[in-house]
Amino acid sequence: MRPIIPDYMTEALEKVRPDTSGERAGYIPELATADPERLGAAFAMLDGKVYGAGDIDTEFTIQSISKPFAYALALTDRGFDSVLAKVGVEPSGEAFNEISLESTTGRPLNPMINAGAITVHSLAGAQDLDPAGRVERVLHGLSAFAGRRLRIDESVYASEIEHAHRNLAIAHMLRSHDILTGDAKTVVDGYTRQCSVLVTTRDLAMMAATLANRGVNPLSGEQVVPETVVRQVLSVMFSCGMYDAAGDWATQVGIPAKSGVAGGLIGALPGQIGIATFSPRLDPHGNSVRGVSLFERFSSDMGLHVMEVPAAALAVVRSNHVVGSGPNALRVLELQGGIGFAGAERVVKEAVDNEPSEVRVALDLTRVSSVDDVARRMLLEVARRLTLGGHDVFLVDPESVVPDPEPGDGGRVTVVDTVDQAANPTRSGSAR
Ligand code: DON
Repeated sequence: MRPIIPDYMTEALEKVRPDTSGERAGYIPELATADPERLGAAFAMLDGKVYGAGDIDTEFTIQSISKPFAYALALTDRGFDSVLAKVGVEPSGEAFNEISLESTTGRPLNPMINAGAITVHSLAGAQDLDPAGRVERVLHGLSAFAGRRLRIDESVYASEIEHAHRNLAIAHMLRSHDILTGDAKTVVDGYTRQCSVLVTTRDLAMMAATLANRGVNPLSGEQVVPETVVRQVLSVMFSCGMYDAAGDWATQVGIPAKSGVAGGLIGALPGQIGIATFSPRLDPHGNSVRGVSLFERFSSDMGLHVMEVPAAALAVVRSNHVVGSGPNALRVLELQGGIGFAGAERVVKEAVDNEPSEVRVALDLTRVSSVDDVARRMLLEVARRLTLGGHDVFLVDPESVVPDPEPGDGGRVTVVDTVDQAANPTRSGSAR
């Protein structure tokens, strides 16, 4: 049978292939000679499976796509306060290489524009690292996101550093505000090496999937950065990742993303997927023309916009019925799917606001796939309130989706594997 997802991806590539508009990055001579016809797309799922079409194993330099990952490393290594003191989180609405700083503090507006990213590079690793050690910290960190050891393309580095006048101007301005404390030229050198790390589209999809997977690389299982850091990074990618096209991107595509001038583009959809595309011709914002079209297509075809409202919450209570009759009647709330705050609120409405007349009440979690922490606490509070109201409460939880089911003061639940065991609790061996 033909593979469904790669077939779909190949079809999407063929739809955008005829678009030859845009230009390769001319300001880095090595990039200006890249093959402009290269085109690839990869999806990395959170179990490590990668689907791809086109040139997904061709190497190119990561460029600005390194920025969110270096930001994650700096936040992890130095803590939020020290990084936020030097780099803001406000969208700039300006080009990526704009020479602009916050007027009062001298801070760069965000870590995705060059001013912020150059500062962030200086904050990766311990303060006392030498320049080579800092580059190694970044290379090691980017490699952990990718799940394989990456390397620097020395010729792209040499080509860019020779023409890095604008980044040097930015760095000197940062130095004059004491945002950079070390030598401006050395920091630009390290930042340029960071931009020259070689990756493939497959690598980038895996790096994005690590962000989508709460900081855990799907292949190695390594927790590369803490979850709190991932939340910060994805938020900044969402608002600032596409520079002065960020608003259009947020509304049209709606996936936290980052582009690079070598033609790479990544998107990380939390809890679902890491996506990467590669096509070297750029639009005036410095974003890959065919990459942007592919992302628009993927987002709309696959319903990936983060603001798309999930239907799940309303459907959490699959049925509310009674089993048996008389004093042994059991009220069963059959729940389903993944339960978060809004889903648990439905259960509160059904079980507490609308208290059952039956003494015995079961929350049937047989069809529940996951219960997040707030929903767990709410379900246990439902159980506690019902106990205090004189009910016998059963949790039908054969897969233990509610860990540590202890409802707290005055509450009591009996955990069983089937509704039948709750309906006939006197049968031996029913309660766990
Ligand atoms: O700082 C620079 O100019 C480059 N090394 C990186 C710029 C980049 O990739 C901008 N993104 N689209």
